[in-house]
Amino acid sequence: MVKRTQPHSQSASQSEAPAVQEVELDEADILADRMRGLGAQEDIREQLVVDNRVFARITDGIYRRPSSALRELIFNAYDADATEVIINTDAPRFTRMEVVDNGNGMNERSLSNLLKHIGGSSKRTNRGREIGTASGDDADLSPGRRRLIGKIGIGLFAVAHLTTHFQIITKARGEKDWLVADIWLKTFTEDLLREAPTDGSKPKFITGDVVLSRETANSQEDHGTTVTLFEIRSATRDVLRRRELWESILDRQAIDEDTSEKKRQAPDVHIGFTDNDGVIYRVMPNLPWASEDSPETRFRRFYASVATGSKANTKNPDIDEFLDEYFAMIWRLSLAAPLPYLDRHPLKTPLNGGIEVYEIENKSKGRATPLEGSTDTTAADKVGLSLEEDPAGGFGVLIDGVKLFRPVELPQEIAKSQRPSRQSAPLLFVGKVESSLGRYDASRSGGPLEFEAYFYWNTVIVPKQNRGVLIRINNASGVLYDDRFLDYQVSELNRLNQITAEIFVKAGMDAALNIDRESFNVSHPHYQYLSNWVHSSLRQITNLLKEASKKGRSEAKTSRLTSTISAIDEGLDSIWAKRADPLEERPEIVVGEKSAAQPAKQLRLEGAVAYDVSPAVLKSVNAAKSAGISIAELGPLEIAKAVFGVMAAYGVLDKMDYSDQESMFEDILKILMVETKQ
Ligand SMILES: Nc1ncnc2c1ncn2[C@@H]1O[C@H](COP(=O)(O)OP(=O)(O)O)[C@@H](O)[C@H]1O
Ligand SMILES: [Mg+2]
Repeated sequence: MVKRTQPHSQSASQSEAPAVQEVELDEADILADRMRGLGAQEDIREQLVVDNRVFARITDGIYRRPSSALRELIFNAYDADATEVIINTDAPRFTRMEVVDNGNGMNERSLSNLLKHIGGSSKRTNRGREIGTASGDDADLSPGRRRLIGKIGIGLFAVAHLTTHFQIITKARGEKDWLVADIWLKTFTEDLLREAPTDGSKPKFITGDVVLSRETANSQEDHGTTVTLFEIRSATRDVLRRRELWESILDRQAIDEDTSEKKRQAPDVHIGFTDNDGVIYRVMPNLPWASEDSPETRFRRFYASVATGSKANTKNPDIDEFLDEYFAMIWRLSLAAPLPYLDRHPLKTPLNGGIEVYEIENKSKGRATPLEGSTDTTAADKVGLSLEEDPAGGFGVLIDGVKLFRPVELPQEIAKSQRPSRQSAPLLFVGKVESSLGRYDASRSGGPLEFEAYFYWNTVIVPKQNRGVLIRINNASGVLYDDRFLDYQVSELNRLNQITAEIFVKAGMDAALNIDRESFNVSHPHYQYLSNWVHSSLRQITNLLKEASKKGRSEAKTSRLTSTISAIDEGLDSIWAKRADPLEERPEIVVGEKSAAQPAKQLRLEGAVAYDVSPAVLKSVNAAKSAGISIAELGPLEIAKAVFGVMAAYGVLDKMDYSDQESMFEDILKILMVETKQ
């Protein structure tokens, strides 16, 4: 969900960073040297220091959820070119967590840089190219050429939400030893933050203590990083365990057996609840998978349970209703991380498959245009979207034995909805933008902005959590789907509920993202540009849907009339077969306009039953038809009586006996009712 914040809420870091770095560059190098000289049984004790109040606060925790910490650790592994991250949360006890990656790891320089430059990331800087946190020729890329997610240098301290004591064990390929950093974080008081030195020097805030040591590795080839979080904070544990909820449910059960009440409150899918020591289950888990399922099947089943669960749950689309905190965390992580999709990448949707594909036009009052092509052409091919393979060889995240995927599947068919829509196939809209912002002064425009996007429309979007638009910057996201579409002001609620969209930002937007990565600075030019584009796209989509439903209505009417006419035809055929000479062909009745040319006479010569009606009568017949006025409203009986009245006046009935008259009356009635019989 996008939240509003003040425009200047994150500028402090960037404007102050350079001055800070110059002083501390040396400190990091000195620490790196000391680490290199460390003997086997020795350690170095250091303090974690920042000279910025903001970062002091950050190391104490600005993140709102346990999932934020794991998200940042996953992002760090990605930035370090890991192909696999294995997370252990110790669920449902949550006393200790571990995140293991097989990435590039850190050497003395990058580790000391991390410890000495909190809030001053080496990524995307020349220093990063030097110490190996960025690619040598392009600081925006990882050494393995992934686009870097990290930028600010505080993500690691998201762990503060979970613990005050954590450990980093890390090794770069080719090094003899693993480096170990044991870190204890401080909890700040307002007083501590207010303290300022009296000698005029910059204030320093001690945010923690660290003990550094080395351990000989089995093989120089080993590489990667393990972050272990010890003694998870009891408040965070209680959130993860949903202790308050379970205890209130258990208490209520103890008092009376009102199970309907219990049912309403307990999440449908949950990891269970143990006593405080984690020994005895007080509530058995309700998992969406079976224990023998593979890591991938587990996730697929989890996804399916959310999809069906959100279908049943009509009033509240919040995952927190259906899932416990633990499963909500897995869901969030699967949305956030740079993972493969559960199904194919949405931009790989083939043209001429079940989904109609359109291209968004980049101008105001634009119009989406259909993309045609063979089934082996994809939307991405057609529009020239950059769907690169992961340059570092793929990225997998395993959490407690569950393999994560982006939880997105776009059905090929229209889902049935209560309110039928005229559009008969799902729609996919794709677009890309290289904005002109890069041409202007970057200090005003924010610099270049590039993105690609898709919008998928169906009568129902399942799971409900995916309604809205999700923004991914360099493959990563910290926000959820924004179901208000960046504050779209038009009341198109029904149609907006039928859209799921993702925006893949290739350049820019970083600066519009707040430092916790969980909301945007909505006044940043990039955000403004993006939201305008999203709104223009939504207009193109809703216009197309409106046209389709208008066209659908008129097509439906035409086809109704055609089928009535052919039903009349069939009816007359069977009356003919019953009453007339079956060897003779049933004559067609042709009605023309009375004129000098006398077409009826001509037609009769050709064997038709033809009549001419006076122009005035024909004119009023046509007028009555287009006005929709008709004695049809009186019903078939009244019409048949009127027709018979005329026939009687002309003496037609005189030549028939009563039983023939009766069956003729009945046949006329039947013919008049073909429409209602359908
Ligand atoms: N899993 C990891 N593998 C290698 N290096 C890491 C890992 N986690 C953190 N680091 C190092 O720690 C630094 C600080 O991480 P973080 O606080 O998340 O900031 P940022 O990612 O913005 O640089 C990173 O720049 C990186 O050098
Ligand atoms: Mg990071």
